[in-house]
Amino acid sequence: MKVAGVILAAGIGKRMNSYLPKVLHKLSGRMMLQHVLNTLYKLKPQKVVVVVGKYFKEIKESIIQTNPPIPPLLKGGKGGLLRTQNSGLIFAQQKEAKGTGDALLRALPYLRGFKGTVVVVNGDTPLITRETLKKFLRFHEEKNDVISVLSFMSQETGSYGRIMRGKTGYITSIVEEMDATYLQKNIREVNSGVYAIDSDAFHLLKEIKLNESKGEYYLTDIIRIARNKGLKTGAYCIGSEAEFIGVNTREELEKARRLMKDRIIRRWTDRGVSFVDTTLVFISSDVKIGRDTIVYPNVHLEGNTKVGRGCTIYPNVRIQNSIIGDGAIIRDSTLIEDSVVKNRASVGPFAHIRPGSEIGTGAKIGNFVEVKKSVIGSGTKASHLTYLGDAKIGKDVNIGAGTITCNYDGYKKHITTIGDNVFIGSDSQLIAPVRIGKGAYIGAGSTITKNVPSKALALSRIEQRHLKGWALKRKSKVKSSKLKAKGAKS
Ligand code: UD1
Ligand code: CA
Repeated sequence: MKVAGVILAAGIGKRMNSYLPKVLHKLSGRMMLQHVLNTLYKLKPQKVVVVVGKYFKEIKESIIQTNPPIPPLLKGGKGGLLRTQNSGLIFAQQKEAKGTGDALLRALPYLRGFKGTVVVVNGDTPLITRETLKKFLRFHEEKNDVISVLSFMSQETGSYGRIMRGKTGYITSIVEEMDATYLQKNIREVNSGVYAIDSDAFHLLKEIKLNESKGEYYLTDIIRIARNKGLKTGAYCIGSEAEFIGVNTREELEKARRLMKDRIIRRWTDRGVSFVDTTLVFISSDVKIGRDTIVYPNVHLEGNTKVGRGCTIYPNVRIQNSIIGDGAIIRDSTLIEDSVVKNRASVGPFAHIRPGSEIGTGAKIGNFVEVKKSVIGSGTKASHLTYLGDAKIGKDVNIGAGTITCNYDGYKKHITTIGDNVFIGSDSQLIAPVRIGKGAYIGAGSTITKNVPSKALALSRIEQRHLKGWALKRKSKVKSSKLKAKGAKS
């Protein structure tokens, strides 16, 4: 079966009370619209049309720039709309939010020539799953329906459209809450906002009339129109209420977020990850975690982070878009951004690994150490109070407490290169650009401005002097000056 997808996302989302378009609100680190898109892509559609409204530019740009880009259809082609159209993702505009029926009509020109099933999904139902959509499409195909609706039984029927079934069980229409009679309101089977429509039936959209009570064109009316023409319509009550939660308010966003979070935690516990407290971890949808890793409370794993097997992530750690190797230990209160921490390395407590860094196998980055855009070789240790910026550091180097790479001269950033097996004494400043040759030693407290040859000892501090009896002399000096001052007063 050939499939195309349409996402309706042009509603204003007034009830969110936000400057941000509703479908760009995030849950579990991913925009609502992106959740829906990712799920749709799993059906391998020939194209996906996203109908957006007032915030056309913002939504289109956010989706295209999102990391990771929506695979694989966005790849290739040249910039702008052309690129997305060529690659299967199209943004159609509905300038005025005139209802879901009108919104789908805006997608029509982009589906011209497509023959198959069009899956329509609301952009504000981020929890739908591939499994349910697949099951739904199977029903649609098996039953030879022209139009199918995915429905579910709801405990809180609130703003959902109610499914009306005729004597034979066929769906006859969908009635919106606003237009429902008292009896209809008691119906628990509701419309999820997911439809499968045969491309041949698309012209029916044009027959939808304005609904006077809301001043909108209701897509749901297409069911009645099709039935009246004797076309086959179906409603399939599959999936759970939690999956179809429509996000219209912040409260519903929070509800969806919690459900999504539970789903993510469940996925990783099933795959052998331990959480000390599952209620207190925050894991984005795109994160991956290896088996036998232990995650302590108040840990945030964000973006495309990949944590290896057998790692320990202690409390209050935030890791963003980073790769953590097997057996690594990330200690308390550490921030890691856009970096790689290799196998068995240890980072923290209170460390900051800034973008572009690589911490080598078995390396140790300790208390109050900041690393920026630097490569730290395997087995190298920087255990305390250090800044390593724009540095290339070899293997088994020992960086003493308080070492600073002075990488910035006020205009430009410069590189510090440190060879294997170097020993940097505590409280040293390395004024970049500078190279420290393999196996060299830097005496504690040195300010290094010139390259240091391999195996040499570099010292740059004045020799220690002792002024004998200086303290006694100072004491008598102070005493006599105090006496003088007293005399002047009286
Ligand atoms: C809609 C359905 C309802 C269903 C519910 C499921 C209609 C008339 N009602 O109600 O039966 O139970 O979804 O969640 O379809 N949109 C546009 N353009 C518009 C209006 C809306 O693109 O002019 C988009 C919105 O961005 C949203 C989706 O369509 O993603 C649904 O719109 P919304 O206003 O949230 O409809 P509901 O009242 O939730
Ligand atoms: Ca809605």
